[in-house]
Amino acid sequence: MARNPQLNRHGELQHLLTTEGLPRDVITRILDTAEPFTVVAEREVKKLPLLRGKSVFNLFFENSTRTRTTFEIAAKRLSADVINLNISTSSTNKGETLLDTVDNLAAMQADMFVVRHASSGAPYLIAQHLEATGRDHIHVINAGDGRHAHPTQGLLDMYTIRHYKRDFTQLSVAVVGDILHSRVARSQIHALTTLGVPDLRAIAPKTLLPADIDRLGCRVFHDMAEGLRGVDVVMMLRLQNERMQGSLLPSPQEYFKFFGLTQEKLALAKPDAIVLHPGPMNRGVEIDSAVADGRQAVILPQVTFGIAVRMAVMAMLGSVEA
Ligand code: CP
Repeated sequence: MARNPQLNRHGELQHLLTTEGLPRDVITRILDTAEPFTVVAEREVKKLPLLRGKSVFNLFFENSTRTRTTFEIAAKRLSADVINLNISTSSTNKGETLLDTVDNLAAMQADMFVVRHASSGAPYLIAQHLEATGRDHIHVINAGDGRHAHPTQGLLDMYTIRHYKRDFTQLSVAVVGDILHSRVARSQIHALTTLGVPDLRAIAPKTLLPADIDRLGCRVFHDMAEGLRGVDVVMMLRLQNERMQGSLLPSPQEYFKFFGLTQEKLALAKPDAIVLHPGPMNRGVEIDSAVADGRQAVILPQVTFGIAVRMAVMAMLGSVEA
């Protein structure tokens, strides 16, 4: 059997590239490790020494508000030195290749790369390159690659669900919206499946579903009312216009009418259902403001939990022997 490229020969997390194939015990360990980190923010000194002396490089080749900032906060809370490479003013603009950039930053004694890139597979390429060139002491975390994966988003979503709902094996969960272009949806679906969610639903128009949706273990619904009936968790997705080629939808207004989450549609879910959204939100397109700001939304707690989950991932990687 091929070795999972994220795990070292001892089965420890070496890189975090995807939730696909990530063993259940590793996911659970990340969520458990994150638990005590949530209270670090309540201390007068919001710091732990777990990454003291380590250098974390944030390489965001695509825009980000939540992921980049919470990785920076998480690394600083673990006492790491954090370097945010400003891609727009870097030598990437002079034609330097991704791997040349990585080699130069590795020569500055990097310990961890946090990578967001528009190309699916870019973080894999970096991890493979580091291993092939004998620098496997440097860890790579995928902070979102193309439409492929966004594992820390998937994991912080799992943390949020576990916080409010406890037992994954008792849940009905609906993932709603632009699943075709969403790296978040893939990371969520793989993690939810591994954690044993028995009723996983994908709600989307036919044009926004990937061809392999059945293989992913979801029940597919094209009618939102039908799909939301009785669910415990509603995971909304952003409509990703920047990744759409050609016209996949009549108009944002039409999309909102059929697939936008309103109070009326949410009332079909269980009364204590929670609503997640990874952000950034398109209010009035995939979600109504009354829901986004309503009592069932856990969208801002997701962001806060994201710090603890990213601390957990970095602390686990930082504890691996080279
Ligand atoms: N959820 C998420 O990835 O948001 P950002 O693009 O702001 O990082």
